Amino acid sequence: MKSQDYEMGMVGLGVMGRNLLLNMADQGHSVAGYDRDPGQIAMLRGEAAQRPIRGADSVREFAGLLRRPRAVMMLVPAGAPVDAVIRDLLPILERGDLIIDGGNSHFSDTDLREKTLAERGIQYLGVGVSGGEYGARHGPSIMPGGPPEAYARVQPVFEAIAAKAEGTPCVTWLGPRSAGHYVKMVHNGIEYGLMQLIAETYDLMKRGLGLTDDELGEVYDRWNQGELGSYLVEITARIFRQVDEKTGRRLIDVILDEARQKGTGMWTSQDAMELQVPVPTIDAAVAMRDLSAYKVEREEAATHLIRPIPAYSGKRDEFLTQLRDALYFGSIVTFAQGMAQLWKASRSYGYDLNLENVARIWRGGCIIRARLLEPIRSAYRTKPELANLLLDPVLAREATARQQSLRTVVSVAAEWGIAAPALMTSLGYFDAFRSSWMPASLVQAQRDYFGSHTYERIDAKGAFHTQWSAE
Ligand code: 6PG
Repeated sequence: MKSQDYEMGMVGLGVMGRNLLLNMADQGHSVAGYDRDPGQIAMLRGEAAQRPIRGADSVREFAGLLRRPRAVMMLVPAGAPVDAVIRDLLPILERGDLIIDGGNSHFSDTDLREKTLAERGIQYLGVGVSGGEYGARHGPSIMPGGPPEAYARVQPVFEAIAAKAEGTPCVTWLGPRSAGHYVKMVHNGIEYGLMQLIAETYDLMKRGLGLTDDELGEVYDRWNQGELGSYLVEITARIFRQVDEKTGRRLIDVILDEARQKGTGMWTSQDAMELQVPVPTIDAAVAMRDLSAYKVEREEAATHLIRPIPAYSGKRDEFLTQLRDALYFGSIVTFAQGMAQLWKASRSYGYDLNLENVARIWRGGCIIRARLLEPIRSAYRTKPELANLLLDPVLAREATARQQSLRTVVSVAAEWGIAAPALMTSLGYFDAFRSSWMPASLVQAQRDYFGSHTYERIDAKGAFHTQWSAE
């Protein structure tokens, strides 16, 4: 192919960038790639084969390969690397060109970059891409935000490479500015919540019931066949069967119990606090990843804060069913919290999100794809302005039908002394949410008592202060 003919440019040829690029080329879209690391360019050339792909050795050569106005996507780590790529590109781009950030950038960075680049006549799209390496290569879920006219330019490419759910591509323009990166951030927050819930069921089955890895694999496989059917439950079942090449043991049993994180779950919690939207299941998931990293302290504490796990006197199969129901309940609550955050963010940040579309494009390709997204999507189709999924009659019924199982599970967990904060807080959230009265009246009174912060009354409008009696 000639210079100036390549439809799309890709900067950052690591795992995600290279696989997305190959995906685009397989769909018949010509792509030029560039990376600061010559090794990555060599690898791309090695994989290009007969595809319409070209690796460039310099930014200048790269710019010359692209059809004008240019569209350049970047897949680099969030933060400073994104600004470094923009700095590299600016001298060779022209007014009307488009930059697309496909990484997990913080939404506030995306807002700033879009604004700064718009002043120079460069369009900017912040695009969440979910699905890991496999998704990037064979069909991710794509969450674009930014100027709609900029999205229109890349829509055919994105629709071609995205995962398909019931034949429709898992991509749609979500809203202006950072809407796409915000939705991706909350996707990751939900991902953290679901992973923590699954991890708690693992702990309860492993240390509580004494299930072997084989049995655990079977349980998750079984759960994956029913309403819990999801990518995360499916891979969990597979994980328990994976054998470690080095030791011959199950790999799961030689993996250190300290979870790493790149921060998107934490950002979800942080912004939820900012917006005053409670997402306690996601908060608990972030906290448990953090706590897992205190391995030295945990090992020390384990030597003196001892409480042996009592033997379970109930019926094992019955408990497994309750655990399955508890996980489903927790999943509904996690989605309810994440979607409630999107609902509030949409208003506060002017994204004007269509939550049915969000649920629709999460049904394929992404890490949180799950059967549960069907009823979630229906809930928003019935009522687009739904403030909380627990107000949807179908999902409310699904949760209510399982609440007794969750109550049993969390009381057994408490009795065993096995930490299950995401399950417990999901129940706490549910119980508080369905409560027309909360003890916040006492909190109001205390604030007024010690700080004259005033309180509101149930029988009159306005702010009131009382001279509280000291005795
Ligand atoms: C996805 C994932 C991905 C994320 C990793 C790691 O949707 O494909 O969310 O974007 O980066 O899952 O995230 P943590 O390092 O924060 O666990």
